[in-house]
Amino acid sequence: MHTTIRAIDVGYGNTKYTLSHSRQGEIPCGVFASIVAPAVAGDLSDGALARRNTAVVHVNGCDYEVGPDAELVTGAHAARVLHGEFLGTREYLALLRGALCYMEVASIDLLVVGLPVSYLADKAAALRALAEGTHVLSVKHSVHVAKALVLAQPLGGLAYHAMTRGLYGRFLQTRNLIVDPGYYTVDWLTTKGLQPLPKRCGSFAGGVHAVARAVARAVASEERISPDELPALDAAVRDGYLTLFGRRTPLQPRHLEAARGVTEEAAHAIANSVGAGRDIEAILLVGGGADLYREALARRYPKHAVQIVPEPVLANVRGFQLIGEEVARRRQAATA
Ligand SMILES: Nc1ncnc2c1ncn2[C@@H]1O[C@H](COP(=O)(O)OP(=O)(O)OP(=O)(O)O)[C@@H](O)[C@H]1O
Ligand SMILES: [Mg+2]
Repeated sequence: MHTTIRAIDVGYGNTKYTLSHSRQGEIPCGVFASIVAPAVAGDLSDGALARRNTAVVHVNGCDYEVGPDAELVTGAHAARVLHGEFLGTREYLALLRGALCYMEVASIDLLVVGLPVSYLADKAAALRALAEGTHVLSVKHSVHVAKALVLAQPLGGLAYHAMTRGLYGRFLQTRNLIVDPGYYTVDWLTTKGLQPLPKRCGSFAGGVHAVARAVARAVASEERISPDELPALDAAVRDGYLTLFGRRTPLQPRHLEAARGVTEEAAHAIANSVGAGRDIEAILLVGGGADLYREALARRYPKHAVQIVPEPVLANVRGFQLIGEEVARRRQAATA
């Protein structure tokens, strides 16, 4: 294939991107927290020890730093954008351009990008327009995107699971539920094949961020916790240990009980929309919160095996890449 295909999944929590075409089932990816900092010249060690791992990108005449070390620039008060108009912000475009920068390509023939389920109908055209065209990243570096394809985010995870497990043909015949607990929202899609069934799809604003806040409230009665400590709590709900003042203490069952309120509510919202699921063959979990939400979902659907797709954070973007390659193959076959 001579065309260049890449995928980006800008999430409220993390920005995920692919680095090459799939090769023997491997799809190399990169990920960085969706934190955007106004660009700062140099660093205090003048690069003598190590340079910050960030990309500096132009957006509307301003320079921003994004990448794994962006939080070193913003400091402890780093806030992510958490509202419905994320797509229209400079931060969103900075994250998209940051991912383009890390890909190290001059042009992309097809870029596959994603939107939360609830925004797909209204915002797909706007995201396509934003992604297509020439992105001037800096004086020396620009990337041209010839065409963009916009998909519902969890569709990527479903395609990744189906295509890499050799289940693609089977999935085209069956109904499946894919649940994507991310940082801000939990999205779900019920599909026949890769076609979403709109009445049984939705989004719930109770992602890992809401879990971390609930745990913060539970911990706050014993430790002094401020909203700035959310990154520590995000790591704590992931690892089971809270590290504050250099002390690493395990989260207690009473703290995790607070998380259950959020995950149960999400599972309830899903069951209200999807129903009892007699017609559903597989229930799959993708997204960074997959582990945290599995138990609540399994309780709602005790007769199903609720499976976590491997490396769930990257599943959507990997599926986007595979869908993009499939679309390009079909286009080439049609014109050959
Ligand atoms: N390997 C990992 N790298 C980064 N974050 C991870 C990883 N594993 C789990 N996480 C957790 O993933 C969560 C974010 O998940 P994800 O990247 O799926 O969200 P998002 O897609 O950015 O959010 P949303 O879907 O709401 O836009 C964070 O709370 C983080 O703690
Ligand atoms: Mg997501």
